[in-house]
Amino acid sequence: MTFNSSDIILEARGVSKYFGTITALENTNLNLRPGEVLGVVGDNGAGKSTLMKVLSGLFKQSAGSIFFEGKKVEFSSPRDSQNLGIEMVYQDLALAENLPIGDNIFLGREPTRNFGPFKFLDHKKRKQLTEEHLSRLKINVKSADQRVEELSGGQRQAVAIARATAFDAKIVIMDEPTAALAVKEVGKVLDLIKGLKDLGVGVIVISHRMDDIFTVSDRVMALFQGTNFAESQLRQTSRDEVIGWIMGKKI
Ligand SMILES: Nc1ncnc2c1ncn2[C@@H]1O[C@H](COP(=O)(O)OP(=O)(O)OP(=O)(O)O)[C@@H](O)[C@H]1O
Ligand SMILES: [Mg+2]
Repeated sequence: MTFNSSDIILEARGVSKYFGTITALENTNLNLRPGEVLGVVGDNGAGKSTLMKVLSGLFKQSAGSIFFEGKKVEFSSPRDSQNLGIEMVYQDLALAENLPIGDNIFLGREPTRNFGPFKFLDHKKRKQLTEEHLSRLKINVKSADQRVEELSGGQRQAVAIARATAFDAKIVIMDEPTAALAVKEVGKVLDLIKGLKDLGVGVIVISHRMDDIFTVSDRVMALFQGTNFAESQLRQTSRDEVIGWIMGKKI
């Protein structure tokens, strides 16, 4: 896939979000390029998830604007952002435990984007497409017919990522994708992120784990109490510096 890595594909400009008297975000900026992995860090309550929910259309910002491919966009629901190719993998994954992997990947998808032909998919075809997609992502499960409740934490995370990337995603936003995983499973999820990057997908990863941030990110940004605190290309910073940012300290 070709992509121009100098173009900003997604931008939040001056975004504020208030919940009653609580200020979750105040005049926050973020930008992302195709094929770039942006690591987002910050203390509990710093506003990371809120910013991602604004970018994915789940929350409406109180002030500020979102730009996609240079054009201002208004999202009234996650469906609107999905239609542009922005997918979010939520912290709680939101998978249907009692349904097979294949059904989870297609769940709730209306044929509005590049999946018109899937409208009339029979079970066999759906299973085949799911398995092809899983194997493209190098995700190992016994079968697309396996129920999510039978899967490990890492496999569930992988299914959630597969679901987010099954339909021509241009941007994938992941909220703490490794938080609940065993060490062995973390590496697989990080490999998946690298795979998306190689496809030209822009990825935003929220993580509290410095290992994640320093393994996959090209750039890291820190939020502190709802505002931009610091940002750097990864190679120009250090773990200690980033940990300082999370605590609101600059060297
Ligand atoms: N739906 C909501 N209603 C009211 N307040 C909210 C809501 N969602 C978030 N907040 C508040 O907004 C602030 C930012 O929360 P947010 O979830 O964005 O933080 P975070 O950086 O993702 O933290 P964590 O690392 O703990 O996930 C917090 O003060 C939180 O209590
Ligand atoms: Mg959060």
